[in-house]
Amino acid sequence: MDLEVIILAAGKGTRMYSQKPKVLHTLGGKPMLAHVVDAARKLEANTVHLVVGYQAEQIRLAFEEDETLAWVEQKEQLGTGHAVMQAAPALMQQSNVLILYGDVPLLKVSTLNSLLEKLTGAAVAVLTLETPEPFGFGRIVRDQQGSVLAIIEEKDASEQQKKITEINSGIIAVKARNLCDWLQRIQNRNAQGEYYLTDIIALAHADGAGIETLCISDRHQVQGINDRLQLSKLERYYQKKQAEELALKGMGIVDTARFDLRGELAFGEDCEIDINVVLQGKVSLGKRVRIGPNVSISNSSIGDDCIILANSVIEGAEIKGKCSVGPFARIRQGTILEEKVKIGNFVETKKTSIGTGSKISHLSYAGDAIIGSEVNIGAGTITCNYDGVNKYVTHIEDGAFIGSNTSLVAPVSVGKQATVAAGSTITSDVPQKNLAVARQRQRNIDGWKRPEKK
Ligand code: UD1
Ligand code: CA
Repeated sequence: MDLEVIILAAGKGTRMYSQKPKVLHTLGGKPMLAHVVDAARKLEANTVHLVVGYQAEQIRLAFEEDETLAWVEQKEQLGTGHAVMQAAPALMQQSNVLILYGDVPLLKVSTLNSLLEKLTGAAVAVLTLETPEPFGFGRIVRDQQGSVLAIIEEKDASEQQKKITEINSGIIAVKARNLCDWLQRIQNRNAQGEYYLTDIIALAHADGAGIETLCISDRHQVQGINDRLQLSKLERYYQKKQAEELALKGMGIVDTARFDLRGELAFGEDCEIDINVVLQGKVSLGKRVRIGPNVSISNSSIGDDCIILANSVIEGAEIKGKCSVGPFARIRQGTILEEKVKIGNFVETKKTSIGTGSKISHLSYAGDAIIGSEVNIGAGTITCNYDGVNKYVTHIEDGAFIGSNTSLVAPVSVGKQATVAAGSTITSDVPQKNLAVARQRQRNIDGWKRPEKK
């Protein structure tokens, strides 16, 4: 059976108080809508129709890489039924249609598959939730035999109907042919003056068409996001669950309630992550990697036996085996550390490669530098890589020793085994094995008298 998915994402999301369309707000580092699109992809839908309206351009831009999405514009937001009507002309009559919401990000593919299976014996199937807190949702109204008669919105419900605890999740699977027929017949004579998609259920009942429901009790799957509080609670739920799954796969996480992964994590055995670590984008850890508390790592790979100490920030870096980084280190985009490199506290690196066994232990900046192996860079050393307009490279070759508080004014190079005296400002190349002293000679004044207070 051909499957087409319609994702509704035209609503304004007023209660987010945001310039950004609601569905672009992220959960686990990924826009809510991307979670929904990914689920649709996993169902192997022939077509994914995205109904957009409010700030449609921003949404299109965010998904411009996905050329297979079928964009549908809903110019005015006249209700969920009206939104689906906009996509209806593009549907193939023989398809099964699954209607999803762009602001319901955590649906499981297995749940959606079960819902779709219900269409073998019915024209429409509704995903419902049994909940002690049905307020605000459409209620599933059944007759005494339990057959579904209609879905009634909160604002249209009678006192009796408001007591119903089975609610409409909004997720509906329906045969295209029936859907198109019913959509033509829904009206907006209700409390909100909207075209309700949910009205197709009463029409299905009137037509004697088969109506099925799949009732679940896991509310997180069907949790829709209307405000930032709901988003933040769902994020925490998502993170906790993700951390627990990683722990069960062998990731050593000290506290699953204080771990955040906003992307993908690959890891080897016996890694350990302390509290309040945030990982973003694609992060890979080798074996036996230890990460201290309050570390942030994004889009980086860290090799076997590395130690990342507390409060370090690492982004876009490749760190090979047995390195030690931090505490309080900042490893920026384009940093490559070969094996056994030591980066200490208050050291910043950017677009810099550092060879095996080299050390920058304290308070330094290495930017646009190519540093060899077994180099020792003293505290307070700075590569002066920027003249206010252009950036220049500093080369430091194998075995060089850079004394503390050195300024290396790029472009400049320090040869193999060369030594730079502490406090030097290096403006021209240092040949290999030379000692460069580029500072004023010290004068001692004997018998110097301190000034006296007048
Ligand atoms: C809808 C259901 C309700 C269900 C609830 C579950 C209807 C009439 N009601 O109510 O039964 O319990 O979801 O959360 O369907 N949208 C558009 N265009 C529109 C209107 C909405 O694209 O013109 C999109 C929104 O962006 C959102 C989704 O449809 O993603 C749901 O809209 P919303 O206004 O939140 O529906 P509810 O009133 O919550
Ligand atoms: Ca809603």
